[in-house]
Amino acid sequence: MRNYQEELEEKYRKLGVSPEAHMEGLLHRKPINYWDYVSLETLMTLQKPLTDHPDEEIFIIYHQVTELVLKLLTNELKQMVGKNELSADEIKVKLGRITRYTNLLITSFGIMEEGMDYYSYNTFRTSLAPASGFQSVQFREIEMYCTPLINLVNAKGKERLKASTSLESLIENLYWKDAGLNRKTGEKSLTLRQFETKYLPSLGKLAIAMEGKSLLHKVLKYQDNAELIQLLKDFDFQYNVAWPMVHLKTAAKYLDSKGENKEATGGSEWKKYLHPKHQQRVFFPFLWENESILDYKKK
Ligand code: HEM
Repeated sequence: MRNYQEELEEKYRKLGVSPEAHMEGLLHRKPINYWDYVSLETLMTLQKPLTDHPDEEIFIIYHQVTELVLKLLTNELKQMVGKNELSADEIKVKLGRITRYTNLLITSFGIMEEGMDYYSYNTFRTSLAPASGFQSVQFREIEMYCTPLINLVNAKGKERLKASTSLESLIENLYWKDAGLNRKTGEKSLTLRQFETKYLPSLGKLAIAMEGKSLLHKVLKYQDNAELIQLLKDFDFQYNVAWPMVHLKTAAKYLDSKGENKEATGGSEWKKYLHPKHQQRVFFPFLWENESILDYKKK
């Protein structure tokens, strides 16, 4: 039988703290319950609609759910990029989780597309500008965990990069800047300026930390592992084509279906910007040398 008292004493001794004081604390501690454990009451106060439209709560909650799922994805990615050596089996387990999470985002997007009243949405959204899902930093971090910056630059950006491929130039030419940067005048939208002020310093640090360490770098040596390659392809397609397409379809429903071509809250040329054809975001280009990612799953 295990001697828990001895093990606990050993644990506290190793930490350099008094076992007696901590054991006494355990005696007084209240038993944990579900609502405190998951911070339920705090969680229920985190929805703060700006209008009285009941569907606005759906919109906020679904964004929050998405951010939590992105956190699950990040959790797996961080573990992978943080290790020097990863076996093919470890990567497969992680990719299984990651594709499951991404699939959850794709299959649940109907909550946005079908689950809100058209007129209600188009009323409360007028109070949201200049905020936009575009400002989701986790979305940008996931990209950086997965692939080097050059794979987040579209063909036009690569043309511009011929002059310099410094980290600064790479960042300035990332595809997502196209949502708010007028490349002729250098003018930036308020949505982009807000985002850059808040997050560009930390994204810059992450970009440096990921040099030579992204998921792409970890998987290159397993190109002969068919099962792993299949999982990678599925994830690349899900994140960079399937999700963008359900998202774009939803944007089109609310912003364009009655021929009104409404302006997005983030002010981008959204019909062009959101399409994977424009973004050309691919995490693992070596998978797509003989096949376009846009045609995958069409067969
Ligand atoms: C009715 C629902 C939605 C509509 C109409 C919509 C519309 C848009 C539009 C038009 C953009 C382009 C940027 C802009 O000018 O604002 C955008 C970007 C974005 N939205 Fe949404 N969105 C919706 C729901 C969501 C949800 C639930 C999320 C989850 C967090 C989300 C995340 C994003 C992201 C990450 C971007 C940037 C995409 C990229 O850079 O590839 N959106 N959205």
